[in-house]
Amino acid sequence: MGGEARAVVGAGISSRGEWGMVLTGVVAMDGPSGTGKSTVSRRLARELSAAYLDTGAMYRAATLACLRAGLTAESGPEQLAGIAIAADLESVTDPAAPRILLAGTDVESEIRDQPVTQAVSAVSAVPEVREALVARQRALIEKALAEGRGIVVEGRDIGSVVAPDAGLKVYLTASEEVRAARRARQDLKAGRRADGAAVLADVQRRDRLDSTRKTSPLHAAPDALVLDTDELSVDAVHAELLRLVGERGLVG
Ligand code: DC
Repeated sequence: MGGEARAVVGAGISSRGEWGMVLTGVVAMDGPSGTGKSTVSRRLARELSAAYLDTGAMYRAATLACLRAGLTAESGPEQLAGIAIAADLESVTDPAAPRILLAGTDVESEIRDQPVTQAVSAVSAVPEVREALVARQRALIEKALAEGRGIVVEGRDIGSVVAPDAGLKVYLTASEEVRAARRARQDLKAGRRADGAAVLADVQRRDRLDSTRKTSPLHAAPDALVLDTDELSVDAVHAELLRLVGERGLVG
């Protein structure tokens, strides 16, 4: 990926969590889109003064680089890999203001737009792209740990591939309808158009592509705790996560 993994930890993270507890290890949060992963991962990281890594944003930014280079989801894997692997990405792991930079520019908003959402499954299915991004993700995890901080990492393959030794692995699920409704609400809030039926179709399409690809398909690691969030509020999931990190001895 051009160079080594870079992370910027923004100012403003207090040295101690609200309750004086800090995360001391790695929490892996996996699951399909719309399960509330980002919301609860960021909140947990903030409360426990940990870093937060959104690996989906890395696949999205690599996809944006491909689109900017004139490629499409139908371009061959070699072409996609060539651009995605060379992309200059920088992840800002501050949970209060997580961002991703492409060639030095904040692309946090652009990577959530429809063209990237349409193409990201194709790019993230290319084994060489995954290999390169997994290496960067591991480097960012090591960096946080070397700085004496814990890290909450969210994605699809964190517990199974990126950080198989994570102290806590959680797999969030929810029904397709609930996930599509959450995605539509998020889109509206961010000022993007959201047609309910189209969002549901997109959730189903990405689930199918992400769980049937050959390399690291979406699935819960055998030792992951599965949490169905259909009936659970964000507060309830957060409380359960706090209980679990305490139970695992991951807070100091
Ligand atoms: O979480 P998200 O919707 O922003 O993820 C965007 C896409 O990236 C998703 O369709 C699957 C892919 N992805 C992946 O393959 N592996 C990850 N660890 C994270 C995301």
